[in-house]
Amino acid sequence: MNFGIDAVRFYTPGFSLDHSLLAAHRQIDPEKFIVGLGQTQMSILPPDEDIVSMAANAAAPLVKEAKDSIRLFLFATESGVDQSKAAGLWVHHLLGLNPSCRVVELKQACYSATCALHLATSYLHTHPSEKVLLIASDEARYGLNTPGEPTQGCGAVAMVLSASPRLLSIEPHQGVFAEHTMDFFRPNYMREAIVDGKFSTKLYLQTLSHCWQEYVKLSSLQFSDHSRFCYHLPFTKMAEKAHERLCRIAQVPFDPHQIESSLIYSRLTGNVYAAALYVGLSSLLENEEQDLTGKRIGFFSYGSGCVGEFFSGIVQQGYRRALYALDHKELLKSRKSLNYEEYASFFSHRLPEDGSEYTTPVISKGPFRLLGIKNHERLYGP
Ligand code: CAA
Repeated sequence: MNFGIDAVRFYTPGFSLDHSLLAAHRQIDPEKFIVGLGQTQMSILPPDEDIVSMAANAAAPLVKEAKDSIRLFLFATESGVDQSKAAGLWVHHLLGLNPSCRVVELKQACYSATCALHLATSYLHTHPSEKVLLIASDEARYGLNTPGEPTQGCGAVAMVLSASPRLLSIEPHQGVFAEHTMDFFRPNYMREAIVDGKFSTKLYLQTLSHCWQEYVKLSSLQFSDHSRFCYHLPFTKMAEKAHERLCRIAQVPFDPHQIESSLIYSRLTGNVYAAALYVGLSSLLENEEQDLTGKRIGFFSYGSGCVGEFFSGIVQQGYRRALYALDHKELLKSRKSLNYEEYASFFSHRLPEDGSEYTTPVISKGPFRLLGIKNHERLYGP
């Protein structure tokens, strides 16, 4: 029996900033962002949204079909809203999940959703009649006028995992590499990440090389056994650099066609940290013209700090019928383009941290929004 991804749907808020506008404001050549980083827009989080509302908005249509069979819900994020309570419990409430569905939050920078994916497929081996809900939800924040600023973004990916999945069966071999590094981190008292950008890109590529070598050793698969590749996407140029590196290691010519369909959505959302690799998967399955049925996709997941992993999956017959392509294209097309002042104002918005009561302005269309705070408690609703 196969286990893997039965459905995938993502959500990103209804506001974006054009990189050409940001570049003009920063007096930088826009080609640096558009060509040098491979980004054209980034999604901007409004004051009445956060990882919980984004997660609920991503998952709502998926769980309608699977509610009764979901008994495990894994929430992956590095933008946690509470030190104790799993963000998924608010989502569990908002979506009316089964009381017998357990909920837990996982963290390891942008890698955590990949670990969650493998935990889920292992769980399904012993519970094949159940389904697992996995949501990755994040906001990438570096700060106004920082080198990381053009690589910001926000969004959530919800996936239902099951036996006999409709989209992708996950294969058993994974090449993993972990090492204590300080390329990117965010102490509890900070809202923005501390990042050594150049060092982080170097580590990403080194980790890819370690993971690939272990993956090849364990799986006995070669580069040519893979039809397409999805990479963690801090910015889309990073995936190009990664694929060039992999092609060099495998001694094959670089073919941009093997990655380009996976980059389309990320170029418009920006980095969505733990969700980024799976936005890439969505983009690949929904934008690739060639029928991918039966093809093997290679995945590289990277979380600063750092943990990396190379793994693979096989696209399932009839996969196109289970996609949410129209929803995703409409979502991206209908975002409002912000001017610089609106962006800076959304970015600088702060919720009270002293327990005082606060009602957020109604900005998002939802359906789920952060309504406000009362007695330190975050309140959500439609
Ligand atoms: N026209 C075309 N290209 C131009 C250009 C122009 N006018 N001006 C510059 N460029 C190119 C540069 O040559 C460079 O390309 P190469 O790397 O291929 O040489 C690219 O634009 C970026 O230029 P810089 O390196 O000068 O950019 P920078 O110093 O401003 O910072 C960055 C780039 C380090 C990625 C920065 O945006 C950053 O710190 N980002 C956040 C960290 C990050 O995303 N790290 C990725 C790996 S870690 C990870 O993956 C985890 C995660 O999600 C964070």
